Amino acid sequence: MTALSMQGCDGSVLLDDTSSFTGEKTAGPNANSLRGYDVIDTIKTNVEAVCNQTVSCADILAVAARDSVVALGGPTWTVPLGRRDATTASLSTANSDIPSPASNLNALISKFSNKGLSTTDMVALSGAHTIGQAKCSSFRTHIYNETNIDTSFATSLKANCPSSGGDTNLVPLDLSTSTAFDNDYYKNLVANKGLLHSDQELFNGGSTDSQVSAYSTNQAKFFSDFASAMVKMGNVSPLTGSSGEIRTNCRKTN
Ligand code: HEM
Repeated sequence: MTALSMQGCDGSVLLDDTSSFTGEKTAGPNANSLRGYDVIDTIKTNVEAVCNQTVSCADILAVAARDSVVALGGPTWTVPLGRRDATTASLSTANSDIPSPASNLNALISKFSNKGLSTTDMVALSGAHTIGQAKCSSFRTHIYNETNIDTSFATSLKANCPSSGGDTNLVPLDLSTSTAFDNDYYKNLVANKGLLHSDQELFNGGSTDSQVSAYSTNQAKFFSDFASAMVKMGNVSPLTGSSGEIRTNCRKTN
């Protein structure tokens, strides 16, 4: 997952489908992939109990993302607050704006650029793949049909991801330290051990190789660029002022 609503940082990704719109949860990149909606529900219930209709679901998501990174040993940053929640969501926007794991470098650069995020931001943000997991269907072509992958790494993955079937089997995006937020993702790329085709695109003889190499030997630089880029990404098209609403239940509009 890209734990993102591509409508902007407006909590639209949390909305369940209704009779008037089909939301983002079933978008190709999110279906059976984005998880943890129940964690956001619990936080929201607790926040509403002490401070009614004041903190948006979009702000809760932004703070939860920061706190998760900190809890796993990554950097911290100040999350600007005051986002309001969308009153609608769009399946088609989610499908068209979220980059696929089959993307090449140019496609990755342009999807981020369309949201006002630079190539440097894109490479730093991709370091989030130091945690979490991917489904077999997201990386099968890369391990069976591509050559820019370490042979023994590819072989070891095939046990869990057969050439047909097992589409939803999960593998850590960073096989070495999948629950620590560190710079191992970039060390893996330099060793041709990127799990997704799109991951390995960042170190495949192109313009972003130097940034990947730098992060692979300088975790502090990765941490500081990641923190800045998360603030920038958190400012992508938020709703403010009297736009949107403060939802009382993150799954539904008021
Ligand atoms: C550069 C473009 C990106 C692509 C193509 C991409 C693609 C993917 C894919 C295919 C998965 C696995 C989904 C699955 O198979 O279930 C995934 C997981 C994940 N992505 Fe990305 N992603 C990108 C950028 C990002 C960014 C910017 C972040 C956050 C800053 C991020 C955070 C994550 C996390 C945390 C997971 C693991 C989710 C879990 O274990 O539940 N990704 N991504």
